[in-house]
Amino acid sequence: TPRPALKYFHGLPLIKYFAENFEEVEKFQAHPDDLLISTYPKAGTTWMSEIVDLILNDGDIEKSKRDAIFIRVPFLEFAVPGVLKGIEQLAALPPPRVIKTHLPVEFLPQSFWDKNCKMIYVARNAKDVAVSYYHFYQMAKVHPDPGTWKQFLKKYMDGDVSFGSWYNHVKGWWEKKKDYRILYLFYEDMKENPKREIQKVMKFMEKDLGEEVLERIVRRTSFQVMKENDMANYGTIPTSVMDHSISPFMRKGISGDWKNYFTVAQNEEFDADYAKKMGQTSLQFRNEL
Ligand code: A3P
Repeated sequence: TPRPALKYFHGLPLIKYFAENFEEVEKFQAHPDDLLISTYPKAGTTWMSEIVDLILNDGDIEKSKRDAIFIRVPFLEFAVPGVLKGIEQLAALPPPRVIKTHLPVEFLPQSFWDKNCKMIYVARNAKDVAVSYYHFYQMAKVHPDPGTWKQFLKKYMDGDVSFGSWYNHVKGWWEKKKDYRILYLFYEDMKENPKREIQKVMKFMEKDLGEEVLERIVRRTSFQVMKENDMANYGTIPTSVMDHSISPFMRKGISGDWKNYFTVAQNEEFDADYAKKMGQTSLQFRNEL
């Protein structure tokens, strides 16, 4: 089956089916107890979802084994023919709900701001996201064909990929945290010291679960354990939507893989363009650990 081209919703490029459903998403009514996990795609959404879900359930591993991650943490704007939409799933779920989104800050349904919901934003450096996204485009066939790495990288730098510009996304959410309850975290920090970052999440969620549960959540959300766990890594999604034989969802889970993809020339061009796009912000990323 041919891959659908992206479709624009008020200037935002989206997976075609998501764009066609977006007017409904805009009307979504958040509950004050909803906790939102917001990310640019490939920044560590699934990892944070697993962490937050476990914290919410007091580290109850058995509960997390019963349902797949996309059931436990619905994807707000998700819409693919023949599958329950994110907003439909959420309608059936009692608060406190954990909700995931990839929307740029200006596209988040107004209700989340009105209800002053807590939000956790996870950001990952632009180069590793580009590499991860390239592989994800290949395996998740609701995206257009990414073409070659060179072709994809250009599109990514131009913001001509699903959910738009990485640069605008990370900056937009960074600015918004001045006025709302947003915990802004970094994938690189989570890699460096998962325990420390999970403690930040617990504190933000006002959960004190003790050392033993904390250690259990750290182990349970390690890359190796999540990779083996179909419930945590979309292993139960039909191959027509995600084909793990093309590229596994749990691909490498490291920082600095971009060095295996960027040529020296691509890296120089990327850095110069990055400086232009990111020059005005206090937001700092680590491209390697
Ligand atoms: P790579 O493709 O670089 O391996 P998202 O969930 O936002 O789509 O992000 C997916 C990326 O996060 C993938 O990156 C995936 O391997 C990585 N990831 C998922 N779970 C992880 C974990 N527990 N630890 C480290 N990285 C993880």
